[in-house]
Amino acid sequence: MNILKLLREQFAEALSEIVDDPASYAKMVFPSQNPQFGDFQANCAMSLGKKLGKQPREIAAMIIERLSVDGFCDPPEIAGPGFINLKVKTDFLAQQLQNNLQDERLGIARDGRAPKTVIDFSSPNVAKPMHVGHLRSTVIGDALARILKFLGHDVVTDNHVGDWGTQFGMILYGYKHFLDESAYRQNPVGELSRLYRLVSQLCEYHSTLEQLPQLEQNVETAQQALNQAEAEANPEDKKQQKNLKKLRNTLAGAQEKLASARKKIEAVRNQPELHEIATAHSQIVTLTREETAKLHAGDEENNRLWNEFLPACNEAMEAVYKRLGIHFDLTLGESYYQPMLADVVEGLKNKGLASESQGAICVFVEGNEAPFIIQKKDGAFTYATTDLATIQYRVDELKAENILYVVDKRQSEHFQLLFDVSKMWGYDQARMQHVSFGTVMGKDNKPFKTRAGDTIGLESLLDESVTRARQIVDENDDKKPNGPELDSRERQRISEIIGLGGIKYADLHHNRESDYVFDWDKMLSMTGDTATYMQYAFARICGIFRKAGLSREEVRADETTPIQLQHDAERALGLQLLRFEEALTNVAQEYRPNLLTNYLFDTANAFSSFYEHCSVVKEEDAKIRLSRLKLCDLTARTIKLGLSLLGIETSDRM
Ligand code: ARG
Repeated sequence: MNILKLLREQFAEALSEIVDDPASYAKMVFPSQNPQFGDFQANCAMSLGKKLGKQPREIAAMIIERLSVDGFCDPPEIAGPGFINLKVKTDFLAQQLQNNLQDERLGIARDGRAPKTVIDFSSPNVAKPMHVGHLRSTVIGDALARILKFLGHDVVTDNHVGDWGTQFGMILYGYKHFLDESAYRQNPVGELSRLYRLVSQLCEYHSTLEQLPQLEQNVETAQQALNQAEAEANPEDKKQQKNLKKLRNTLAGAQEKLASARKKIEAVRNQPELHEIATAHSQIVTLTREETAKLHAGDEENNRLWNEFLPACNEAMEAVYKRLGIHFDLTLGESYYQPMLADVVEGLKNKGLASESQGAICVFVEGNEAPFIIQKKDGAFTYATTDLATIQYRVDELKAENILYVVDKRQSEHFQLLFDVSKMWGYDQARMQHVSFGTVMGKDNKPFKTRAGDTIGLESLLDESVTRARQIVDENDDKKPNGPELDSRERQRISEIIGLGGIKYADLHHNRESDYVFDWDKMLSMTGDTATYMQYAFARICGIFRKAGLSREEVRADETTPIQLQHDAERALGLQLLRFEEALTNVAQEYRPNLLTNYLFDTANAFSSFYEHCSVVKEEDAKIRLSRLKLCDLTARTIKLGLSLLGIETSDRM
């Protein structure tokens, strides 16, 4: 049941006699911000007034005359300049709630006409540090998949693992030169990560060294330009002053780059052992590139090693997913598409879309300076080529009509070019969207890093969350009025649920495009917009039933006692519960899980207010008591289902 949708349909119907694009005006029905104006409010009469050159109030009256909502609303009222206020009939609300009691889906409809959707998410680069950005992609992507699937969409989730990239050149080089065999035997992924970090640091050292003269030159040039401009500038001339400011910024930028390069170099030089290694491997940049090229060209040893590394890396990744309760329908890594890449390039060349530029094969997209490079000078295919092949596969083989990429917003240029090029290439039927998200920041306002900066670091992050949650669970249980209720195993199980739920919820409840600061205390707080708060609300309701000595099934099965919504807080909760489908369809339209967390937070708050004003267990009137228990049951199920659609668990007792 989606009351807003119902209203909009009725408005579209009524407006069809007034304008030729009724749907766009029907969209102007919204939930009211203030219950004083009813439950929903339409403001289309104002825009229509301008369009049709009439008084908005007059138009509002015309709309109401044609509107048939009397089955579920009180007579609409016109307010102020021409708002239409709508109040849902309380009997209707009560009846819908009663129907939902016996429905496992809580009255939420399935949309069988939705396009077939592929969701590309998580997609870490194996054997390379999996960072909190991948965790964010994982958590958001998983929530979207769960929600869309629940709404009846045909969804395929695909983990586009980076298992063929240049990191393997580094690992192969590291393996051949710096392997600690016993460490590798004990913990292959840990050792491979170490090798990756070592080699990438050495590569960075050498490439930075190489860039140093240029960076110094840049500072010099910027300084000279500034000096000259300063000497010539007239302090009264605004344009010249603006130019000076620009030149100062350029100089500051160049200085910053130089300083950071010097810092990187110093970091190696300050460790004599590392410096010695770096000096001994002066050709490392070229050599690691060659290792990658050899792997891609089918070199036997490198392919054997790749096949040896991969299972261990996948296993480590799987462990994280298992812990988080994440499942993928497909895990087709980048390597899967390798056999198709040459054809992709050929096809684009044949269509006249790709051409050579400075030795590389590129596609130029109008309005974009940066070309989309699909084959490098040395013949290597790129991240972009693989993504094109992936689109071909998803559209042709998986029959995708809608492809979502849940990826860091820093890759937005890549996706813009990718989508444009695919359209030029002929893949213009499928919808593609970059579901982008911001960076997770540390308290120092720099991108957050897990301690070790690798998969293991990510696991220790999860562990830390559970440890912190355990403190909360212990404290809370210890201070229960009739003494503790949970044994140690129970406490641990609940801590796991709170700890992991807290991390996920923190990722989900922010607007996904925003950066946010990773903050343990906020994340696990029992009050405020957190999973913990919602999980406790759920457990509290379960506790109400224990106190009442009634089973939830009994309450649900009752058909003789209608739900009553007499108190304002009762009615507000009832209306809120009936807005679940609206919240879920909003998530599905914008791919924003925070629209569901907002809804759940509002629901938990509506429940608090209800519980504060309306007695339940102690209510003497048996009919009202049962009606209220029904509301409790519906609230608990809404929270549980809502959290589960975000990949977050609940516990009956906490
Ligand atoms: N492996 C990439 C990264 O870690 C993300 C891949 C996203 N998916 C895609 N089809 N490009 O940055």
